[in-house]
Amino acid sequence: MDVSDLIEKDILGYLKAHQNKGLLRFVTCGSVDDGKSTLIGRLLYDSKMIFEDQLAALESDSKKVGTQGGDIDFALLVDGLAAEREQGITIDVAYRFFSTDKRKFIVADTPGHEQYTRNMITGASTADLAVILMDARKGVLVQTRRHSFLVSLIGIKHVVLAINKMDLVGHSEETFNKIVADYRTFAKQIGFENILAIPISGLKGDNIKDPSTSTPWYKGPTLMNHLETVQVEDNAQSGPFRMWTQWVNRPDLDFRGFAGQISSGIIRTGDRIRALPSGKDSKVTRIVTKDGDLSEAVAGQSVTITLKDEIDISRGDLIAGVDSLPGVADQFNATLVWMSETPLLPGRPYWLKLGSRVISASVTDIKHKIHVNTLEQLAAKTLELNEIGSVNLGIDQAIPFDAYTENKDTGGFILIDRMTNTTVAAGMINFALRRSQNIHWQAVDVDKTARASAKRQKPALLWFTGLSGSGKSTIANLVEKQLFALGRHTYMLDGDNVRHGLNRDLGFTDTDRVENIRRVAEVSKLMVDAGLIVLTSFISPFKAERQMARGLMAEGEFLEVFIKTSLAEAERRDPKGLYKRARASQIQNFTGITSAYEEPETAEIVIDTSKLSAEEAATHIIKQMQDRGLLTP
Ligand code: ADX
Repeated sequence: MDVSDLIEKDILGYLKAHQNKGLLRFVTCGSVDDGKSTLIGRLLYDSKMIFEDQLAALESDSKKVGTQGGDIDFALLVDGLAAEREQGITIDVAYRFFSTDKRKFIVADTPGHEQYTRNMITGASTADLAVILMDARKGVLVQTRRHSFLVSLIGIKHVVLAINKMDLVGHSEETFNKIVADYRTFAKQIGFENILAIPISGLKGDNIKDPSTSTPWYKGPTLMNHLETVQVEDNAQSGPFRMWTQWVNRPDLDFRGFAGQISSGIIRTGDRIRALPSGKDSKVTRIVTKDGDLSEAVAGQSVTITLKDEIDISRGDLIAGVDSLPGVADQFNATLVWMSETPLLPGRPYWLKLGSRVISASVTDIKHKIHVNTLEQLAAKTLELNEIGSVNLGIDQAIPFDAYTENKDTGGFILIDRMTNTTVAAGMINFALRRSQNIHWQAVDVDKTARASAKRQKPALLWFTGLSGSGKSTIANLVEKQLFALGRHTYMLDGDNVRHGLNRDLGFTDTDRVENIRRVAEVSKLMVDAGLIVLTSFISPFKAERQMARGLMAEGEFLEVFIKTSLAEAERRDPKGLYKRARASQIQNFTGITSAYEEPETAEIVIDTSKLSAEEAATHIIKQMQDRGLLTP
C-alpha cells in the first residue's frame, strides 16, 4: 500500500505509524541552475507524498510550462510561486514537509542568489543538515563557496554535497572525484568535517532513492537513504542546562514557578541552579508540566520550575546548571548578518533579543566585513543588506550568554530596529570582550545630587533640534543668557563648535551623524552629572539618537525642544549660504535636501518660528522650565 492509499484508507494507522518517527530538518542550498527545485520535487515524489490530484496537475502543467519536453518537470512541484514560474527564480524561504517510513523531514528551500543571503540564513537557522547542490559540469563555483560559508556560519555540522546532473557528464567517476577533492580543499578553510558527497541526477533519479546502475563505482548511500539514517547528535540534550525564563508563574502566594522551554541539557529535581544575571543559586524542588510533575526534563520540553529559595528571577533571566555556567558580560564580539535595506549605523541603539531577553545594544566597532564569495576580510564603516561582519557590541546591562558555537539558543540573537520593530540583523556571539570584565563603575562619594545642590539648582538637558538655519543656536544662546542672569550654572554645546574639536573627525554621513550625537549625548550626561543645566544645539536629524540621548537622562531631566521652521523658510534665510551650495550639489548629504530630517513627535517644547521671535521663544522656554519645576532650587 503506498502512502497516499494508506492515508486514505487508514488514517489512524498512518498517524500512529508516524507519531514516533524522528524529524530531520535540512536546508537545500543551490540555485535554479543547479537543479534545486527538481531535486526537491524528486524527493517529494519519491517519498510518495504527492497526492493523486497534485500528480495529475503536475503532469498537465509539465506539458504546458515544463522544461522537460512533456516529461514530468519536478521543479514545478516546488516552484509554487507565480513569479518564480515566470522568471525561473526562487524568492522566499519555503518550508516543505515530507515523510518516509523512517523519518519525517522539513526542508527549507532557500533561494541561492547573493541578494537572498538573508533568506538563506533564515532558512538554515533551524536546520540540522545542509544539502549543497552543485552542477557536475561546473564544479565548485562562487555560489558553492558562499553557500558553504553561510552554512558553516549558522553552525550546521552535517553537509551533503549533492553533485547533480551526473547524467550530463556521462556519470564520470573522475569528474566526481575531482570536484570532491576541490571542495575538500576549500572546506578545510571553513572547518567542515562531516562531508558526504553523492553523485546524483535529480532529473533522472540517480542515487536519490535507489542506487543508480549508472554509477557502479559509487558505494555510498543514496541521498534519501542518508537523510533517513544520518545521526544528527542531539547537542542540545548533552549540553549544560540552560533555560530562558519566559514568564514567572505566580497564581497565588504559595506557588512561584519559572516557566520556559529548556534550551539545552537536563534538569532533575534536587539539581542546583543559578539564576543569571543576578548570580543567585538555589535548588529545583519541582518540575511542573501541564501533564503533571516530572522528576527530570530535557532540552525541548516546556516546563515550570519551582525553587527551594525565594530568589529574584524575572522574565528574560537565564536559569543555568551550576556545574557549567554561562558567561555574563555587556560587551561582545559577534558575527552579524545584516538583513535590512537600511544599513547598520554603529552607535545607534537597537533592541537585542537573546532568548527571551530584550535589551538595548549598539555596535561600537566594525572589525571587518567578510566578503561572502571570497571570505576576504574587508574594512567597513557600515554593513548593508546581506553583508556579514565581525563587530563589537555594547549592551546596556550585563547579560548571560554562551558562545554561539556552544549553544545556538544562548549565543544567537537578533537585532531589532527600535522605530519600525523589524528585524535588522541576525547575530552570533563569538566571545565576551575582556575589557568589559575589567572595567567597573567607580563608586564616588560626591555625587550628582551633591554637586547640583552645591550649585543650588536642578540639572537638566535642553535638547534643541531642527533644520540648519532654523534658529536653534540663536534661541539656545538667548535661553542660556537668561538662565545665567538667573544665577544658574549652564553650558552650551553647539554643533558647529563641537565639530571643530571633539568631533573634528566626523562628517555628515548617517553613520557620522549618529556618532556625533552619541558623543554629544554622552558628554551632556557627564555635564548633567556635574550638576549643570546643559543646552545642546544640533540638527540631530534622527529620532533614534534623540531617543538615545533621552534614555541617558533621569526622568524629567530631558527636554526636547523642537525649533520648527519649514525647509522653505530655512532655505530663504540661509544664514551661512549652505543651502545654496547644497542645491548646487557642492555639499553632499545636506539635511532637508539630500539627507533626512525626522521631525519629533513627542517633543516637550515646540517652537514655531513663524509665530515667535527668538526672544519670545527663549522666554517661552524659560517659562516651560519654571512650570516643570526645573528652576525652583
Ligand atoms: S548633525 O546632523 O550631526 O546633528 P550638526 O548639528 O552637528 O549636525 O551640524 C550641523 C551644522 O553643520 C549645520 O548647521 C551646518 O552649519 C553645517 N553643515 C555642513 N555640512 C552639512 C550637511 N551636509 N548637512 C547639515 N549641516 C551641515
